[in-house]
Amino acid sequence: MPGLAAPQYCVGSALLRRSFRQSFPPAVRGEGAYLWDAQGKRYLDFSGSAAVNFVGHGVSEIVSAMTRQARSLEFVHGSQFTTPIAEQYAEELLEFAGEGFRGGAVYFACGGSEAVEAALKLARQYQVEVGNFGRSQIISRNQSYHGATLGAVAVSRNKRRREIYRPMVREFTSVQTPYCYRCAYECTDSCRECGQRYAQEIEAAIAAAENRVAAVILEPVSGATLGAVVPPPGYLEKVAEICRREDVLLVADEVMTGMGRTGRNFAVDHWGVRPDILVAAKGLSSGYAPLGAVIVSEKVVEAIAYGSGAFIHGFTYSSHPISLAAGQSALSYSRALQLVSAANSDHEGTLAAKLKTSLSALRPLRTVGDVRGIGLLWAVEFVSDTQRKSPFPQSANFCGLVAQTALERGLLVYPVQGCVEGDSGDHVLIAPPAVSSAEQIDWACQELASAIEQAAASL
Ligand SMILES: Cc1ncc(COP(=O)(O)O)c(C=O)c1O
Repeated sequence: MPGLAAPQYCVGSALLRRSFRQSFPPAVRGEGAYLWDAQGKRYLDFSGSAAVNFVGHGVSEIVSAMTRQARSLEFVHGSQFTTPIAEQYAEELLEFAGEGFRGGAVYFACGGSEAVEAALKLARQYQVEVGNFGRSQIISRNQSYHGATLGAVAVSRNKRRREIYRPMVREFTSVQTPYCYRCAYECTDSCRECGQRYAQEIEAAIAAAENRVAAVILEPVSGATLGAVVPPPGYLEKVAEICRREDVLLVADEVMTGMGRTGRNFAVDHWGVRPDILVAAKGLSSGYAPLGAVIVSEKVVEAIAYGSGAFIHGFTYSSHPISLAAGQSALSYSRALQLVSAANSDHEGTLAAKLKTSLSALRPLRTVGDVRGIGLLWAVEFVSDTQRKSPFPQSANFCGLVAQTALERGLLVYPVQGCVEGDSGDHVLIAPPAVSSAEQIDWACQELASAIEQAAASL
């Protein structure tokens, strides 16, 4: 194009890939925690792709369940039929989501963004059903990511993924996310006190909107954008209490954290918080088929059931039987192997406890600013000066460099830029399958340390 410098493009593919500036090895096989490319090179999947795979690659039980379903019935449309698998699996998920969802219902979608869209519309419809016609705003948090579709972009605050689409979406209010390593209130007590101040920001935003807020959406543990940031004690509890009092629905986006990834069925369980709507995807099917779910509490279901009587929304591929077979089988595999327990980093001897210890060995490295996370969801944040917590220049793409160096060593991590005010800031996300071995975790942490040193030396 005229006026543009000529970067190095990787062209010649009929596939519109994620980037024209990066080459991607063709993946052909997966087993356990490993993936192989077409050249036969093996990679340890230390990020579960993008925090997707929880049960391991190549699980034949899941493939068989999908095949069985495809043989008997591949698809019906939700306007004409329900299916036994949709009914059974919805019940299983409600039970998995716990007491707060007794009497609720599940809406299935094809991934996280679709599920978020459905959740936002459900929140709006709930408010209309109960007579709050003016409530259509959604409060979200800075540095959040809720998906790539335009409704999800409207409530997401990942600057790099949002900026050019801003003119196309409605602007809602957003508030700060507690991010202890760079606390906005500059606290010295690990955000113990200021968790309440962050929660009050939500209260103030609801008040300022004067009865126009339908819902608050948040990632209980910040996923990709901030990188596995765990909320301070008391924060989520306070947010839930404010929402309940103000008749605002609480939507917990657990696309990345749900289905056991943090060592509880859902991350909100760590704090005993019961959202009105839970959104799951990624680990729901562990990537065996596209799947998302909106898990809806009884209060919301009843408002619609006894109100207008129909959810005004629908995707052709909602409740796709083959995806549901993948999800149902992934859940039963996870249960059989007790993978949620394996992901609990608070219990000695678990895989997650091992990961926590092994990752702390990275702390002394001169470019490592923070190592944080919970369960099997961790992030390593990089800085150019650990005292000042100075980020690397955005143009250095330090996390990309680490990830590329790691990939060459046969280790997969998930690099994300923008944790500092949406522009600079580098981290890699670590989210291994829960079937990884302690030896694999040790090897991965050693290789990651070497990749970080190698990337730093190349600057
Ligand atoms: C918290 C969260 N919500 C929603 C999404 C969107 O999910 P998907 O990419 O499956 O559409 C993501 C994806 O990374 C996510 O992390």
